[in-house]
Amino acid sequence: MSGKKIKVINIVGARPNFMKIGPIAEEMEKANFEQILVHTGQHYDYKMSKLFFNELGLPRPHINLSVGSGSHAMQTGEIMKRVEDIFLDEKPSLVLVVGDVNSTLACALTASKLGIPVAHVEAGLRSFDRSMPEEINRVLTDVLADYLFITEDSAAVNLEREGIKQEKIFFVGNTMIDTLIKFKKKAGKIPVLINGIDVKKQSYGVLTMHRPCNVENERNLKNILKALKEISMNIPIIFPAHPRTLKQIKRIGLMNYFSDIKSGINSRINPIRKKALPELSNGVYAIEPLGYLEFLSLMTGSKIVFTDSGGIQEETTVLNIPCITLRDNTERPVTVRIGSNVLVGADREKIVHEAEKSLNGSKKSGKIPQFWDGNAAKRIVKVLVSQLTSHPVAQLSR
Ligand code: UD1
Repeated sequence: MSGKKIKVINIVGARPNFMKIGPIAEEMEKANFEQILVHTGQHYDYKMSKLFFNELGLPRPHINLSVGSGSHAMQTGEIMKRVEDIFLDEKPSLVLVVGDVNSTLACALTASKLGIPVAHVEAGLRSFDRSMPEEINRVLTDVLADYLFITEDSAAVNLEREGIKQEKIFFVGNTMIDTLIKFKKKAGKIPVLINGIDVKKQSYGVLTMHRPCNVENERNLKNILKALKEISMNIPIIFPAHPRTLKQIKRIGLMNYFSDIKSGINSRINPIRKKALPELSNGVYAIEPLGYLEFLSLMTGSKIVFTDSGGIQEETTVLNIPCITLRDNTERPVTVRIGSNVLVGADREKIVHEAEKSLNGSKKSGKIPQFWDGNAAKRIVKVLVSQLTSHPVAQLSR
């Protein structure tokens, strides 16, 4: 590209943002954008943040707002206060936000009030459940955004229903899947060691859970853990636990649902070498959060995944691994309609029933949604180049 560079501020804040921004930053670099990466610091533990930068080869953030934890209002407000001066000083042509976390809304709102165009990647997804903080973040970010990049066709229907003009909506695919496709082979080679045993050499399931509707609700949390304990009598389940989930499990005294990491070892005779190989015994194993590559490795080797995460519903669809979603709704309906996902909520019987069906051979397999092909970021940057070079940007004032 020739002439003046397009200056963009890209925002990241929480764990699921990092793999969405990676491919976009790479394409922007190729298109010669001037990029500033701002990390709000919403996630700050090494294993929830810096590890991802290292593994994904992301550029170091130019600015870290170090906002940390707090109530929703505190976190959102504090990000807004801290990011406003940066926007005013840098005068970007665009602020780009991804996903649905508090950092997404805070930065979109601040930019929008300063008259800076906003791009929202992963726009239009709706669970229609306003008790989810992410749903509120999605709806409000989409009202403010000037360029809405969508991952599936349901999003276009939602946005049009909410009165968003069609010319602002661009169906580009899924940048989280761009990252998955890029790193799948590398991740596949990484062992996942528990007690020195590579669990990938045996059959196992994976659990992730962090949504307030499951973690803060004692009844739901117990139902899920009871179901998982029952399922784990047949297959060990590995549970990389979000710090908040683990805190809550300890607080209400539910650690007895988990197997002791040190003692859960079996042995199996390898018929070729006639030698005993150590295996992880049945049970649910809570481990620390994993980095991107280790988690992808764990997921690709698994027979079944239980989750309440949004991104994992998408990743299992592409990997064609049965996904039992511990929610009553999903903002990503394509993963249920054509992918490998089923919704079971926190219903103990349903969780066990769907797991048995999958493990007994009638697994739900699916197709890969349109444009989930590794080229979403390329499409986004192409749109931005054509849009931003044809619309001059207004001057900013406080
Ligand atoms: C946030 C997102 C959620 C996303 C999730 C992925 C919002 C509203 N929620 O939820 O959509 O799916 O990230 O993980 O933005 N904590 C740590 N270390 C950290 C980060 C958090 O210990 O590095 C603990 C703290 O106790 C903190 C709590 O987790 O108070 C909640 O963190 P927060 O960023 O508010 O939300 P998440 O639950 O992580």
